[in-house]
Amino acid sequence: MGLERLRPLLRWSVLRMAVGVRHITTTGQIGDGREAALGDYVVAEARQGDLDDVIATIDRFAYQKSFLINVGDKKGELLDAAARRADPRLVLELGTYCGYGALRLARAAPEARIYSVELAEANAEVARRVWAHAGVADRVTCVVGTIGDGGRTLDALAAEHGFGPGRLDVLFLDHDKDAYLSDLLSMLDRGWLHPGSVVVADNVRLPGAPKYRAYMREQQGKLFDTVEHKTHAEYQTLLPDLVLESRYLGEQT
Ligand SMILES: C[S@@+](CC[C@H](N)C(=O)[O-])C[C@H]1O[C@@H](n2cnc3c(N)ncnc32)[C@H](O)[C@@H]1O
Repeated sequence: MGLERLRPLLRWSVLRMAVGVRHITTTGQIGDGREAALGDYVVAEARQGDLDDVIATIDRFAYQKSFLINVGDKKGELLDAAARRADPRLVLELGTYCGYGALRLARAAPEARIYSVELAEANAEVARRVWAHAGVADRVTCVVGTIGDGGRTLDALAAEHGFGPGRLDVLFLDHDKDAYLSDLLSMLDRGWLHPGSVVVADNVRLPGAPKYRAYMREQQGKLFDTVEHKTHAEYQTLLPDLVLESRYLGEQT
């Protein structure tokens, strides 16, 4: 194994992540203040109103300062391409973190309104600060909540943000890996997808979403048409990962 490929994984901020894993699942943050530090860094270093520069600045922070659990620059290209192909008007991301994925979606889909659901208020605050600095706060909105809260967040998306049958063009799953399938099914129950809607799922191999992957395999050519993109986890090239891109085919009659 080349030292060059190993080096990004041996950084203190990556090793610190291992300590923070339990913290992430309870608070949505790694536990050493890096998310708030990213907000400060973006405001200090990135050109205000320059979406490209804000995205590049976040990637620089993740490579050079502290590792972040964003979709990242390489898997982000897969997300961009899927969003561009869908040419969406309404996009929903599950799992906002510091707002990076939503920035990429806003850039790839300039006509779209982007909503991002996040469990942790502290992450929502960082993301809103980053989006305001990038100049996209008028069309990117964080909703604090979770799809698994018995319908409260889904109802809020419907009542306050225009979600409804056939309205959702792109869904990006990047939150609790065990909730990918149940949250997708909740949206199918409400009929929010339409034939041609695209669902992108990150981290299907690492840390892994096996139930979701099995569902998409079972539904191949029926409800969904899925491409499995072989890639690697964010901000390094050593650890393999999978991004699934699934086109909704609609109920076959
Ligand atoms: C991998 S990060 C998201 C990265 C983001 N999509 C990006 O590319 O910049 C996962 C985020 O999901 C949030 N999260 C975890 N479980 C969640 C749930 N059930 N509903 C909403 N957000 C959740 C965490 O707090 C964390 O901020």
